[in-house]
Amino acid sequence: MNDHFRLIRHSDRAWHDRFFSFVASIFESGRTFSAWGARGGWVDGYDVFAVVVDDQVVSTVGRQSMRYVINGKERNGYQIGAVATHADHRNRGLARLLMNKVLGELDAPDQPVILFANSSVLDFYPRFGFRRLAQSGFAGHIDVHPTGTLAPSLDLARPTDRAWLADHCARASAIGQGFTARDYYPTMLFHLTRQSRIAFRLDSFGAVMIVQQDGDRLLIEDLLATRPFRLTDALPHVCAQPVRTLKFSFHPEAWWPNAESQAFPLFPDEQTFSVPAGMSQTCTTAAFAGHLV
Ligand SMILES: CC(C)(COP(=O)(O)OP(=O)(O)OC[C@H]1O[C@@H](n2cnc3c(N)ncnc32)[C@H](O)[C@@H]1OP(=O)(O)O)[C@@H](O)C(=O)NCCC(=O)NCCS
Repeated sequence: MNDHFRLIRHSDRAWHDRFFSFVASIFESGRTFSAWGARGGWVDGYDVFAVVVDDQVVSTVGRQSMRYVINGKERNGYQIGAVATHADHRNRGLARLLMNKVLGELDAPDQPVILFANSSVLDFYPRFGFRRLAQSGFAGHIDVHPTGTLAPSLDLARPTDRAWLADHCARASAIGQGFTARDYYPTMLFHLTRQSRIAFRLDSFGAVMIVQQDGDRLLIEDLLATRPFRLTDALPHVCAQPVRTLKFSFHPEAWWPNAESQAFPLFPDEQTFSVPAGMSQTCTTAAFAGHLV
C-alpha cells in the first residue's frame, strides 16, 4: 500500500473531485462540498490536508482561513472542517497525523481555530487541545408590520448574484466585537448552499439580511452591514407577516443592545470547539461566519 500526505489547494483542480467524492461518501450532507465548489466557493484560503492511498483520498482535514474579531481585535485564524477517515483506514492515526499537521502549521501558537463537531467526536477534539464553547442565541421583543413589498432577495444560482454577495461581504463590518468574523464569503456560501435561506438585499441600508420567519418570530441568522442603521427601519422590508419576537443567531451588541441571551443552540446537531483555551467561553459567531461541515 502506497500512502502519502498531500496538500490539496484551490489550484490543485485535478484533486478536487476526488476530495468531493470522499466527503460525499462520509457525511450525510457531504455533497454540499461539490455544489459549493461548482459555485466557486473553493478559493485561495481553503486547503485540504489529505492522506492518499493508491491515488484515492482516505483521510482529510479541511482548513479555511478566517478573519476573526475577538474582543474588538482582528485576528487571522482558521476554521477546521471535513475531518474524516475512510472506515477501512480508521484507528491507524491518520486523523491524528493530519490534525497535528494543521495545528503545527499555525502562524502563531495562540492563533484562533474553531470547528463544529457532531456528537460522535465530542471526545476526539479535546485530544488536540480544543475546548467546547457554549452556543448562545439572543432574543428581543418588537412589534413590526410588513411594508407589503418584500426587499429583493439574492439568487445564488446566478453567478452575478454570487459575485455581488462576495463583494458585499468583503465590505461589510464585523457584526460585533466579542467573538465574530468578517469577510467570510466562502463559508457563508457553503452554508447557503447546504440549506436554502432567503438573503434579502437591502440596498437603501447598505446591507444584506438573512432571515427565517416562523409565524410571528423572525430569526436573523446574519446581517452584513456596510454602515450602521436602525434595525427597526429595515425589518418591515424582510418580514411577510407581523413580528413580535426577534431572534438572533449572533450577539446583536450594536444592533439590539437589550436583547436577552438565550440558550437556544445555534447548531442543534453540532457543538462548537476552539483552541487556544484563552478564547471566549461562548460562541455567538453569526451562523454564517464560518461553518463548513
Ligand atoms: C473521527 C475520525 C475522523 C477519526 O479518524 P481516525 O483516523 O480513525 O482517528 P485516529 O486513528 O487518528 O485517532 C486519533 C486518536 O483519537 C481517538 N479517536 C478516534 N476516533 C475517536 C472518536 N470518535 N472519539 C474519541 N476519540 C477518538 C483514537 O483512539 C486515537 O487515540 P490515541 O491517539 O490515544 O490512540 C473518524 O472516525 C471519522 O471519519 N468519523 C466519521 C466522520 C466524522 O464524524 N468526522 C467528524 C466531523 S465533526
